[in-house]
Amino acid sequence: MAKTKTTFFCQNCGAQYAKWLGQCNSCHKWNTIVEEIIQKEEKRSWKQTTKTKRVSNALKINEIPFDKEDKISTKNNELNRVLGGGLVKGSMLLLGGEPGIGKSTLLLQIALTLPKKVLYVSGEESQSQIKMRAERLQNSNTNCLILTETNTQNIFKVIEEITPDVVVIDSIQTLYTEYIEASPGSISQIRETTAELIKFAKETATPVLLIGHITKDGNIAGPKILEHMVDVVLQFEGDRNHTYRILRAIKNRFGSTAEIGIYEMQHTGLRQVENPSEILISQKEDNLSGTAIAATLEGVRPLMIEVQALVSTAVYGTPQRSSTGYDIKRLNMLLAVLEKRAGFRLGAKDVFLNIAGGIRVDDPAIDLAVISAILSSNEDIAIPQDFCFAAEIGLAGEIRPISRVEQRILEAEKLGFHKIFISKFNKVNSSNHTIKIIKITKVEDVFSNLFI
Ligand code: TYD
Ligand code: MG
Repeated sequence: MAKTKTTFFCQNCGAQYAKWLGQCNSCHKWNTIVEEIIQKEEKRSWKQTTKTKRVSNALKINEIPFDKEDKISTKNNELNRVLGGGLVKGSMLLLGGEPGIGKSTLLLQIALTLPKKVLYVSGEESQSQIKMRAERLQNSNTNCLILTETNTQNIFKVIEEITPDVVVIDSIQTLYTEYIEASPGSISQIRETTAELIKFAKETATPVLLIGHITKDGNIAGPKILEHMVDVVLQFEGDRNHTYRILRAIKNRFGSTAEIGIYEMQHTGLRQVENPSEILISQKEDNLSGTAIAATLEGVRPLMIEVQALVSTAVYGTPQRSSTGYDIKRLNMLLAVLEKRAGFRLGAKDVFLNIAGGIRVDDPAIDLAVISAILSSNEDIAIPQDFCFAAEIGLAGEIRPISRVEQRILEAEKLGFHKIFISKFNKVNSSNHTIKIIKITKVEDVFSNLFI
């Protein structure tokens, strides 16, 4: 019998200790150290039957066989874009996101549309529940096998029998290996089961897609080490009350992390949104004051986003400042710039700001649209619907240039905008474009260009 051994793990960062401590020495969090039973066994392979012992040789880089077809392209273009082409053979992918955001739906949808043999392992739902979901998704891949199992040894037994091309695991927190006695979801179980799956993925060149839960502060539950172990970490985010979801790569060993995928949750599953700008700009008949369109970039993808502002006289002594989807500190800074450099008395006004569509924007190029929307609401004069904005604002009230301005202009042109406001310092050749490019240098110019 193997000797039972216990170790103490920090539930936050995964650091390991021989004895209990009140504070973790590594991440300095209090009360995160928990005792877990681990049982040391001799090194083992993921395979039960044939113990393989592979010795790798060192090779010259030009001798390493390389197959261009090493990426499995999925039918889901948004996912392919985020992954940089498709699923890399033998890679581990971790998909994180809040409960109910649609992680299981996304991976089941991918499993059902992949022209490969897929094993979908669920530790969270029964086979009939998955069937019910699959019915709603209206896709049927006869090559997709569903298994409800949480024991990794049993999962590997099934894998050996059916030799799938792709394996999906929902979720890593429900899995456990017999070699460790800690409960499923604990640090040592997550670490061990992930290590077993990685060994399997690398030895058989099978891509493994894992679903991971996230903690209340938005990190993937389990040790940070989990994110280091896998090749790709994707985050599925969005507001549960809004129907749009954004798939973002946090880490990608095979491509860029700048790309995003956009989906819309419908009753028949997730629909890919190919032209996101159209959905983010609200359809309206009349010109309303307080809205401005920003030409932003999410990664390398241009997005036209509607910024809405409401400026009203403060009823109480202290004016309210509130913003949804935009940094409140940045809003306060822009308001201070407007007061100081352009003489607007916004100090006695309530200002509410909202980014339409429930998304969050970090691109500084949205600044100009923010102040234009605020000025428009303050003056109660609408900005024509075919105007858009792309520039950053500095503390001195200067309009600063932004990156990839050509790409933003092209997107605006494609969507039928007639005027775009940018910084004078962005070098653009206006003769290449049919859209009118207005170059400005100071915040004061915004007012005179828009409303006079
Ligand atoms: P789910 O994939 O179970 O989320 P997760 O695995 O991230 O916890 O998604 C559940 C939500 O998706 C649920 O609130 C209902 C919604 N949904 C739809 O709107 N349409 C659909 O076709 C499906 C399958 C789910
Ligand atoms: Mg789920």
